[in-house]
Parts: sequence; structure tokens; C-alpha cells
Amino acid sequence: MESPLQCEISKDVQKAIQYLMQDELIGLPTETVYGLAGNAFSTKAVQAIYDTKQRPHHNPLIVHVANVDAAKALCTQFPILAEQLAAAFWPGPLTMILPKRTMVPDLVTAGHNTVAIRIPQHALALELIRQLPFPLAAPSANPFKRISPTTAQHVADYFPHTLKMVLDGGPCLKGIESTIVGFDTDTVIIYRPGNITEQDIERVTGSSVIFYEKKDNQLIAPGMMAQHYAPRTPLIFTSDWQSAILQHPGKKIGLLSLSRHEDFDVTQQEVLSVHGALEEVTANLYAALHRLDVAGLDIIIAEAFEESGLGKSLNDRLRRAASK
Ligand code: TXA
Ligand code: MG
Repeated sequence: MESPLQCEISKDVQKAIQYLMQDELIGLPTETVYGLAGNAFSTKAVQAIYDTKQRPHHNPLIVHVANVDAAKALCTQFPILAEQLAAAFWPGPLTMILPKRTMVPDLVTAGHNTVAIRIPQHALALELIRQLPFPLAAPSANPFKRISPTTAQHVADYFPHTLKMVLDGGPCLKGIESTIVGFDTDTVIIYRPGNITEQDIERVTGSSVIFYEKKDNQLIAPGMMAQHYAPRTPLIFTSDWQSAILQHPGKKIGLLSLSRHEDFDVTQQEVLSVHGALEEVTANLYAALHRLDVAGLDIIIAEAFEESGLGKSLNDRLRRAASK
């Protein structure tokens, strides 16, 4: 039987600490998306993360720390490139995959010999993590394959009976998941594009980055799984949204677009930016998708962005949301 407990939305950091010290999970605010956080060194807490999210065990978790020393304590190597990126982008929406020390449980890394680490740029999250004697394992706080949460309410709606508390840090200012990078001798490899772009990284390291390409049957960064971040309503991702609308006469259509499109017969339109700024789009994307997904629509038509910089990261998320 489901527990009648209702997930509490609260700004009480001490209460969050109490839950975490007891191997319980909390919803964690960050600048990217909300995380489902637990003690990374506790088998019970980490197992609860997989169970609560219904996440397959082959998909590893990101470990959140409060400073670079705490990050270094978790890995056996911290290359010069990692030093450069940490200095430039931490705290911030960048996750680095590094060789793990044995103290990092295999359950966290799904048996990989690497660990994904990030310092979130969120005052309340940092205040919390600084007071804890352990780092926080936290994937995004959505059930497996669903849209990531960008407000405390999204998290509470997903887990009303299976999570006791969401620490309310307001809406996420960046709004899409962190950029994930790994290292191959002198090269930075982007596994998942995010708010920190290829150009941002190249500016800091002075050398070009490469994008990870999945080889047959290989699952190095399962975050690259095709279907992810998906609404339940079928989503069409296209640069030709006009034709897509015309091809669905009589359907209840939700349109997700950069700017307002007049004179088109759609049931609901979500405009992602007032000023045409992509930073604004990333911040608004998931909340808009959540709204469209509960609006009783037949389809969502999402307009593609120019495939560069942040546009590339946005297209990555929308492409996955569209895949069956
Ligand atoms: O912005 C974010 O990164 C958010 C917030 C909460 O920090 N977290 C997040 O976690 O997006 P999650 O679990 O939804 O996505 C993390 C991705 C997963 O796709 C996972 O496969 C990949 O990181 N990952 C984690 N550890 C890895 C490792 N050792 N090697 C390769 N990929 C890894
Ligand atoms: Mg996720």
C-alpha cells in the first residue's frame, strides 16, 4: 500500500541534513535541475536513489561536492585540463568524469572505474553540502526517462509518497542538465552538451574538444541514451514547424518555440524567450514541457534551434524528447 506521507517542500537546510544523515533522500536544488540526493557513501541511500527513480543499475550517478579538494579526494587523478576547467567553471554546470578511488562505492558508478563529479552553483545546495560529512550522489529528480524537474513542485509532484522532503531553492536558473566531460590524454571529450558549451571549454583550455560518439552497443555515458527527458505526449522535433502543424489538422497541438508565432491554429503555445536569448530558453525549457505535457494535447511540436553553442545542447534534449 502506498504511504500517505506527502512530500514536504521546505527551505529548512537543517531538516534536510537530518534526513540525509539518516540515509534518507531529499530533493536537492541546483542551478541546472533538481537532484534526488543521498549520502554517496551509504549503500542504503544510493540503492534508494535507484529504486525511487526506477533507474536501471547500469546508469551511474553524479557525485556532488562543495569544493575542489573534496572532488580530488574522490579520484586518483586530476589532470591539468581538469584543473583548468575547475578553476573556470566550478561551482557551475560542469560534470567531470575522472578515475575513481576505491572509497567511491561501485553502486554509485555502476561498476565503472570512473566517477562523475560536480560542484553545483547554488547557494542553498552549497550551504547544505558544506555541512555534511559526505558527498551527495544525485541524479536528476525525475522518474527514469521523464522530464527533469526545474522547480521544487515538479519534484514533489513526481514523488509525493516516496520522498519526504524537497529543499526549495526556487526555480533552476540554468534549467538543463550539466555539461558532462571526460579526458583522453590531452583532449576534452563532451559526453553530454549543456550550458557550458564546446566554445566555452576551448576558450579555457586553448585546444579543441571532441564530442563523444557512441559505438555499437557501448554505453559509456548512458545519459546519451536516445529516449530521455521525454514528455508523455508525442513530440515532433523539427525546423519546419509550419508544415508539421499543417500535417496535423484537427489535432490539439502544443507549440514550443523560441519566439511567438501568430496566425497559427494551435491549442497552446509556449514561447521560450521574450528576448530571443538562448540562456533564457534553457531556463524555461523543462517547465514549458511540463506544462504542455499536462495540457491534454495530442502532440507537441518543438522548433529546432540553430545547431551551435547552446542551440546544440537544446537540440540534444529535444531530439531525445522526440525519440520513441
Ligand atoms: O545537472 C546535472 O548534471 C544534474 C544535477 C542534479 O546535478 N544531474 C543529472 O544527473 O543530470 P543524471 O543522473 O540525470 O545524469 C547524469 C549522467 C547520466 O546519464 C550518467 O549515465 C552519466 O551522467 N554518468 C554518471 N557517471 C558516469 C561515469 N562514471 N561515466 C560516464 N557517465 C556517467
Ligand atoms: Mg537525468
